[in-house]
Amino acid sequence: MKNKFYVTTPIYYVNDVPHIGHTCTTVATDIIARYHRLIGEKVFFLTGTDEHGAKVAEAAQEKGLSPQKFCDQVSKNFQEIWPKLNVEYDYFIRTTNLKHEKIAQEIIEKIYKNGDIYKGKYEGLYCIGCEKFVTETDLVDNRCPLHPNKEIQKQSEENYFFKLSKYVPLLIKAIEDPKNKYHYKISPLSKREEVLSKLKAGVDDLSISRANVPWGIPIPWDKSQTIYVWVEALINYLSALKINKKEDFWPANIHFLAKDILWFHAVIWEAMLISVKLPLPKEVFVHSFYMIDSQKMSKSLGNVISPQELLKKYGADGTRYLIASSFPYDNDSDVGWERFTEKYNADLANGLGNLVARVAKLCENSQITFPKKQVDFYKSHRGETSRLLDECKFNEALIYIWNHIRRLDKEIDKTKPWEKKGKALEEILKKLVNEIRQINGALKPFLPETTEKIEKQFAGPKIKSEKPLFPRI
Ligand code: MSP
Repeated sequence: MKNKFYVTTPIYYVNDVPHIGHTCTTVATDIIARYHRLIGEKVFFLTGTDEHGAKVAEAAQEKGLSPQKFCDQVSKNFQEIWPKLNVEYDYFIRTTNLKHEKIAQEIIEKIYKNGDIYKGKYEGLYCIGCEKFVTETDLVDNRCPLHPNKEIQKQSEENYFFKLSKYVPLLIKAIEDPKNKYHYKISPLSKREEVLSKLKAGVDDLSISRANVPWGIPIPWDKSQTIYVWVEALINYLSALKINKKEDFWPANIHFLAKDILWFHAVIWEAMLISVKLPLPKEVFVHSFYMIDSQKMSKSLGNVISPQELLKKYGADGTRYLIASSFPYDNDSDVGWERFTEKYNADLANGLGNLVARVAKLCENSQITFPKKQVDFYKSHRGETSRLLDECKFNEALIYIWNHIRRLDKEIDKTKPWEKKGKALEEILKKLVNEIRQINGALKPFLPETTEKIEKQFAGPKIKSEKPLFPRI
């Protein structure tokens, strides 16, 4: 299909309720999805929940619920919070969907029939938090640094293995050579380099089944084992399209995710796809992590920030702005309540909110009529903001737009429209209104609700004052 754009978030584990980390990726993906809709592409935006595996089963047990009941409850939290943040996904996939389970089995069976799966014995250390095997060198004080609250398990069992090592030379070529038929982009560059150097250092085959994890999808030819949760989860990107009869959106234009799950998305997934002869994603975009006041976010530290709290304090668009402007592009990004509130007041209550109120008031007092005009900002021109959005540099795009806002504020101070009359006043105000319409057009992917309000307010011919867009906190 021409002019299509398929974008995904990771499917989040239901062992946890939504937090600001999930919100970061989901809001960023929504901004990209909206941007591509605005430039006239047909967009399919997928998100969902990852519901199988030992970690989820353990969390259900702690709550005294059956795994399925537990998943139903927690998945709902994710499904319901995103629309409240003005996130417009096209489909929400759950891996306990029977259709997904069937498709996952079909894919595994295909890989098996291609001769890429064999039986072997695995002995190793397993981190249930990551749901993956780790090595001694990954550990700090015998614990996984990402999940210090989980005991590392020694596991030894007969598993099925995927011949990942066989695909390594192909993957290296595919990443390095833009002309290669399998070429895909890993962004940003630092993450591409990281993947390449790991691939070049040598890669083992991957254990893709579990003998002791009953909460999973059975291996079709050997029901005593279940499919390794990660391998099954990746297949969601395919099954979601099949379930919706939207296969023509394949392959993904961007898989959005953070650095913790880079390897699965930039190596394992592509090897699986080559094995089943499907086109590879065009780009894997990897962001870094939020730190909360310089610390890792964790339940035990009690510093977890939830989307519900953000929403209550800053509203949907306020939250989206704070997320996008602190987006951890290539490095971890430090966030926290104090910083957020300061930024909200400075940039939204004062910056954008104040500028819009100021110009609307001047227009209202002037009684001037303004020509009606619809601004299709991203369709009509490709400037710096488009370029930055193409690279997912949300923070820089907002800095660019806010420089425009500040420039306009200064211009008002300098030209003093309140001292002007007649033609001179009309000229100044028409220019200001035009610039506000441009700024508003540029802000559409970021602030969908607010830009709709501003668009109505500044549609012409008469422009009036309205309630403040972002009340000061
Ligand atoms: N279920 C797997 C993904 C399977 S996709 C086929 C998983 N789930 S998760 O719930 O742990 O989500 C991980 C993702 O949540 C990260 O890749 C990132 O998108 C987001 N974040 C989690 N914590 C984060 C921060 N502290 N900061 C920013 N994003 C983070 O992994």
